[in-house]
Amino acid sequence: MTKKIVSPVNSLKGEIKIPGDKSISHRAVMFGAIADGKTTIEGFLPGEDCLSTISCFQKLGVQIEQNGDQVTVYGNGWDGLKEATDILDVGNSGTTTRLMMGILATRPFHSVVIGDASIAKRPMARVTVPLKEMGAKIDGRGEGNYTPLAVRGGMTKGITYNSPVASAQVKSAILLAGLQSEGVTTVTEPHKSRDHTERMLKAFGVELEENETTVSVRGGQVLKGQKVVVPGDISSAAFFLVAGAIVPNSEVKMLNVGVNETRIGIIDVLTQMGAKLTISNERVINEEKMADLTICTSSLKGIEIGGEIIPRLIDEIPVIAVLATQANGTTVIKDAEELKVKETNRIDTVVGQLKKLGANIEATEDGMIIHGPTQLTGGNVDSFGDHRIGMAMAIAGCIANGKIEIEDVEAIDVSYPTFFQHLQKLV
Ligand code: S3P
Repeated sequence: MTKKIVSPVNSLKGEIKIPGDKSISHRAVMFGAIADGKTTIEGFLPGEDCLSTISCFQKLGVQIEQNGDQVTVYGNGWDGLKEATDILDVGNSGTTTRLMMGILATRPFHSVVIGDASIAKRPMARVTVPLKEMGAKIDGRGEGNYTPLAVRGGMTKGITYNSPVASAQVKSAILLAGLQSEGVTTVTEPHKSRDHTERMLKAFGVELEENETTVSVRGGQVLKGQKVVVPGDISSAAFFLVAGAIVPNSEVKMLNVGVNETRIGIIDVLTQMGAKLTISNERVINEEKMADLTICTSSLKGIEIGGEIIPRLIDEIPVIAVLATQANGTTVIKDAEELKVKETNRIDTVVGQLKKLGANIEATEDGMIIHGPTQLTGGNVDSFGDHRIGMAMAIAGCIANGKIEIEDVEAIDVSYPTFFQHLQKLV
């Protein structure tokens, strides 16, 4: 395991091009794999999670070529997927696991899905239960709740499913299975989660019906290969949005960032806290909005974050907690119990690590409460193998009054392999 020392910085200045969106990169490979014809992907995120998706679909018989952020997928339709002779290893990727389960649920063959130690603890019943209801045969530890999972897909029937959680992974798995099921499949969620699946399916020629928090798809539709341009990942930009706001004398510009409405909770939070943030050069490519974002050092105030905004910023909460340590007053994050089932229990890991750096932060049942502003101190922290915890700690290190040493920084390669190069460029 690699350690990294981060020293305090005086200012951050300059421009960076944020790497491709992780959610969109996964979907482009998967949808290309089940589509008829060639799909080319520009701006693909060559992070470990998305490489796991490529490797799983190669094992399922799909020819995929990857060279940095350029990918070509030679799809042969749904029947182009073949029984793999090996296990399908998803590494650390929950998105690969859950979306691929939706695809495998309708394939008339046997598959075994495994991942790393973190994946083995993450709940899969949220997808296996509805997929079994549709007719797939799935088994796994804890009655199909944990990997390794064995799937034998088959003739599935459309369902109407009320998801207890606002989860794009659950919604997407069911809709993907619905595409190869008899009749109509409908998913309703408590709040709208990210809608990249809906947007990209439309770009691949699928007809969907959408109404606020409900999406329906008719079975038997085919996808046609496309050219996909992946915007930069706002979840990666979030680290430098926060850094630019809290490091003194800073001005950071991030180019080509995806600003899909279902992902920009971080922009709403920064604006409400009083950050100096400008959005420019807005445009739409492949149904996805992107823009350039510029942030300057700002005077911030604590706010309350909860309700419908939570799914729109769920992955940004570790770095929002760092932001809140520098805001005047109290920040309350609530309705975020989903944090407990991410790559780590992010309520425990965020609160535990920030406390080590002197933050005034406490865990609650469904989030955390942070009192600011606090001068963070140097110290030793751990990512616990969670990429976003590692990066949030590095941003905390920029404003601490001493060096911080972060254990297990290679986890960052899951979503942002060039993170430290970008940080160095801005210093
Ligand atoms: C993702 C959806 C979110 C998010 C994850 C990526 C996706 O998870 O936290 O990092 O690509 O669909 P949930 O759908 O479980 O909320």
